[in-house]
Amino acid sequence: MTPTELAAAIPKAELHIHIEGSLEPELIFALAQRNGLSLPYASEAALREAYAFTNLQSFLDIYYAGASVLLHEADFHDMAWAYFLRAKADNVVHAELFFDPQTHTARGVSVATVIQGLASACARAKAELGISAELILCFLRHLSEEEAFATLEAALPHREQFIGVGLDSSEVGHPPSKFSRVFARCRELGLRIVAHAGEEGPPAYIWEALNDLKTERIDHGVRSLEDPALVAELAKRRTPLTVCPLSNLKLCVVNDLGDHPMKRLLDAGLCATVNSDDPAYFGGYMNANFTQTVQALDLSREHVITLARNSFEASFVSGARRAELM
Ligand code: ADE
Ligand code: ZN
Repeated sequence: MTPTELAAAIPKAELHIHIEGSLEPELIFALAQRNGLSLPYASEAALREAYAFTNLQSFLDIYYAGASVLLHEADFHDMAWAYFLRAKADNVVHAELFFDPQTHTARGVSVATVIQGLASACARAKAELGISAELILCFLRHLSEEEAFATLEAALPHREQFIGVGLDSSEVGHPPSKFSRVFARCRELGLRIVAHAGEEGPPAYIWEALNDLKTERIDHGVRSLEDPALVAELAKRRTPLTVCPLSNLKLCVVNDLGDHPMKRLLDAGLCATVNSDDPAYFGGYMNANFTQTVQALDLSREHVITLARNSFEASFVSGARRAELM
């Protein structure tokens, strides 16, 4: 088996997937029709043509517009179920899904609708596909601390349905420290902590995520290589990085997959993992990310095995299921 074939076949966990980023144009149009909404694009192909991004913000504008077709519990269920079917085909056996409640509550959709729709799809994934799945609530960092606190309050009646919290959306200008108090409260509540840092933002934001938010994983973190002391700290703590190669390519974080830092991160001894981020927008699910990275960087079978093992080590799975996966 070649490294590429192994990368496709090996069982893996996905730890960095924004479930709203798995909405394919076909489902966006189907949900718009079901909900009696009109879209500013004539066809699925016309929408897809708009997927030419120059940076994170140019993507986020279209991503939030796409999510506007989600209104009812069944819409959230159907979106997540479509993702699980796709994940199954890529030999994903465990997934931790980010969701952005503020994208929906701003349109009058309740947190209960969002969480119940997603949680029922997670239960179905376990029962019908054998995929274990958990939810991680993300705060939108371009919004205020006060709005993040209000979102947390609204979600607390559903505390049993999500395992942790994260921080996403526009990174530059919104450092992790803006949310130190929110994350302190989340830690008191026993929530697991992750945060996007070092995607477009500087290494200083990764330090803040570690020290102020006390994050257990860094989402992206590709800019950590600019700071050798940070690399040493991440290696010492064994803080996982949930890296998303095709996202980095599509959002112009790297100009060519051959320049992607994944091999350097692994060779520096960091617990790096491969993930799809927003697969409907970036041109590929887990195996596309895995196989294209293996080929572009000429990764070995050992690298592939390390990446798969890292995905389970970095996961928040515990107990018997962890023993089963590791
Ligand atoms: N929300 C969805 N995808 C994201 C990304 N790649 N970075 C920050 N926020 C996001
Ligand atoms: Zn992300």
